[in-house]
Amino acid sequence: MVLMGRHFIGILDLPIDLPGFLVEKAAALKKAPANSPLAGRTLALLFEKPSLRTRVSFDVGMAQLGGRAIYLSPQEVGLGQREPVADVARVLGRYVDAIAARTFRHETVRELAAWAGIPVINALSDFEHPCQAIGDLLTIYERFRTFRGITAAFIGDGNNVANSLVLAAASVGLNIRLASPPGYEVPETVRQAAVERAKVTGADVRFLNDPWEAVRGANVVYTDVWVSMGQEGETGARRRAFAAYRVTPELMAAAAPDAVFMHDLPAHRGEEVEPEVIDGPRSVVFDQAENRLHGQKAILLWVFDRL
Ligand code: CP
Ligand code: NVA
Repeated sequence: MVLMGRHFIGILDLPIDLPGFLVEKAAALKKAPANSPLAGRTLALLFEKPSLRTRVSFDVGMAQLGGRAIYLSPQEVGLGQREPVADVARVLGRYVDAIAARTFRHETVRELAAWAGIPVINALSDFEHPCQAIGDLLTIYERFRTFRGITAAFIGDGNNVANSLVLAAASVGLNIRLASPPGYEVPETVRQAAVERAKVTGADVRFLNDPWEAVRGANVVYTDVWVSMGQEGETGARRRAFAAYRVTPELMAAAAPDAVFMHDLPAHRGEEVEPEVIDGPRSVVFDQAENRLHGQKAILLWVFDRL
C-alpha cells in the first residue's frame, strides 16, 4: 500500500524539528490565510468520544483551506464493534483523503494508519493529544515571542495532554516541569523521550510531585481535567488523589509575575482550577482554543505535503 502523504499520530513518533516548524507555519497561516490549497480534498472526522474544539476547528480549518470535512459519530460507525477497525480504515481510504480520529485506545489510531492508505491524524487518544500541543506552543510563542528561557509548569494528571505537551516542549527548547501525584505521572517512555529531546534542544525538563516546586517562577501554569474521557469509573479515587493539585490564585501567585494560565478545555471550575484563575486576567484559554484552528491548518497542510 502506498501512503499518499504522512501520518500525525503522536509527538513521540515525529521528528524533533516538526513541532517548531508547525508552530512557525501556523503563525504564518494565522496572519495570511492560504488560498484553497486543499481544494477537492475531504477529511473524515472519526470520533469515539465527544468534542467541541477539535471537531469544529478541523471542520472550519478544512473549509478555510478549500476542502471539506465529514463528521462520523461513534453511533454511526461503531468502530471495532459494528465493523473491524481495519475494514473501516480501508473503506474510508476509498472515499476520503485523510482521517482525523479521536479514539479511546492509542492503538486504534495506529491500526487505522496501518490500513487506511491515507494520512491519519490523532485527534486525541488515551496516550497523546498532539494537535493540542501544537496549538499550545503557538499560544506560548505568541505571548513570549520565544521558547528559550521560558518555563511552563503542568500541574495534575500525567495524561494524553501532558504527554504531548512535555514532548513538544522538549522538542522546541521550552523548559517544562510536570507535577503529578504519585501513581499518576507521565509514563516512562514519554519521560525518556522528553529527556533525550531536551539534550538536543537544551530544554530543562523536570518530573516532580510537588505543584509548588513546579510553579515557582514559571511563566506558564497549565492544567487539565483530573478525570479524562473514558476514566469516569475512577472519579472518586482521582478527586482524592488530585485534591492538592488544584490551580488556585495562591498557586498562581507563586509563578512569575507575567505568568499566564493555560487549560486545553473543557474545564471543571472548582475542581482542577478555581474560577478566579480561569476567568481572571492571566487566563489565555480562549487564545489556546482559537490556536487549535491555526495549528491544525498547518498539520493538515503537512500531512498532505503542501507546506
Ligand atoms: N481541547 C479539546 O480537545 O477539546 P474538545 O474535546 O472539545 O475537542
Ligand atoms: N485529558 C482530557 C483532554 C480533553 C480534551 C481527556 O482525554 O478527556
